[in-house]
Amino acid sequence: MIEMLEKQENGFQKLEAKKFERIKTSIYTSSDKASLHVAKKIAELIQDKAAKGEFAVLGLATGSSPTRVYDYLIKFHQEDGLSFKNVVTFNLDEYYPMEPDSLQSYVRFMKEHLFDHIDIESKNIHIPDGTLSVEEIRGYCHGYESKIRALGGLDIQLLGIGRTGHIGFNEPGSSINSRTRLIRLDRVTRLDAASDFFGDENVPSRAITMGVGTIMEAKKVFLIAWGEGKSGVIKEAVEGEIKSSLPASFLQKHNNCEFIVDTAAAGALTRVKTPWLVEDCQWSEKLITKATIWLANELSKAILKLTNEDYNEYGMGSLIAEYGSAEEINLKVFNLLQRTITGWPGGKPKVDDSTRPERAKPFPKTSVIFSPHPDDDVISMGGTLLRLVDQGHEVHVAYQTSGNIAVFDDEVLRFLDFTREVIDDEEANLQLSKTIEKVNESIKSKKPGQVDSPEIQKYKGLIRKGEAKAACMISS
Ligand code: F6R
Repeated sequence: MIEMLEKQENGFQKLEAKKFERIKTSIYTSSDKASLHVAKKIAELIQDKAAKGEFAVLGLATGSSPTRVYDYLIKFHQEDGLSFKNVVTFNLDEYYPMEPDSLQSYVRFMKEHLFDHIDIESKNIHIPDGTLSVEEIRGYCHGYESKIRALGGLDIQLLGIGRTGHIGFNEPGSSINSRTRLIRLDRVTRLDAASDFFGDENVPSRAITMGVGTIMEAKKVFLIAWGEGKSGVIKEAVEGEIKSSLPASFLQKHNNCEFIVDTAAAGALTRVKTPWLVEDCQWSEKLITKATIWLANELSKAILKLTNEDYNEYGMGSLIAEYGSAEEINLKVFNLLQRTITGWPGGKPKVDDSTRPERAKPFPKTSVIFSPHPDDDVISMGGTLLRLVDQGHEVHVAYQTSGNIAVFDDEVLRFLDFTREVIDDEEANLQLSKTIEKVNESIKSKKPGQVDSPEIQKYKGLIRKGEAKAACMISS
């Protein structure tokens, strides 16, 4: 197997992270490379077990994190002939209640993302059953555990992590010894699932999940996490105290657990965020700026007031040794920051632009602002947009979607009604009344998540267009 861990820029991969990190954590430059690594480890296990005539027992997760891992496993099967005939799987969890063919069911998820594309025997697939009666669940969960034990336990358990720090659906408060059971989902978890269910009010309040104790018995655990949104919870789980309010922290007690994260999810780890606290580092301009700003924030001091002692006390003695004094570093960083601030986002014509963030020429400039959604432009850079226009530049805004899905149904009726009031022509008026009736019917009979008719989509798109034009103050 090729070790895919990539060298990081700042040299932080060389740093001794053990002081802070209580779980082995590997950082990859992308979630794709990290997923490939995990998929290769799983494939390796399956092949080793097949060679010995044994079953590979996998604990599997759903959600957005493992999908690339599954894509790679499918690729290994289709292109390299990896067989899953000797694989038995146990999924971590399922919403309760849940029909297996529902849009949000984990049975459906696993079929779509993995099982339908490989040669696994259906009798070897286990996913908690969301259709049982409450009375049946206890016995069923007991049976789930027995099956895992009878097969000699899980060889590899693949985990994601929720914003609450949950693993499986073991929400805060779960004990380290908890077993497979029915649990109540945390409010945050339900909010995170809201878009899958077209509104948090449709998210089931309960789920069946493997317990923390069940997970802890797996021979190898991979917890995968991607994106900045996971960075806080990853830091807490890896560097914080073990506590039941953050179930993933229990994995610190597992003797063969590895966290596999991308650079964004690693962003809050001490060795990434403040590498100078871990060990000496190579001081690039970027790192000096980052460290000095961090120090000023930490001490609630202005950058120009930081002293040699401040730098020394916070692990930046080597920086002082390199630059001579705090004053020199302070001034360097202060000037760097100062030069990022301007009231002339398109460049100031006819002045020295050598230390300005934007060049003076050409003047005027033509700029295109890409707005992923109507209103992102004004929300994120309305002031800059206005300055560019006021300072004589030609500004275009490119909206990358019509934004119709963000318009409320009653808005459509309100706008149509307004138009009817405005129009004088009797025939057109009658026509509009019919349209309003039709739209009203269609809205009333709409189910959660159902896509609007093309006609309603068009009206909603027009409403967004009007708002976008108004925001940019375009009058025609
Ligand atoms: C899913 C599961 C959950 C998810 C977690 C992260 O089977 O057990 O613990 O792994 O909520 O979800 P994503 O990957 O969607 O961020």
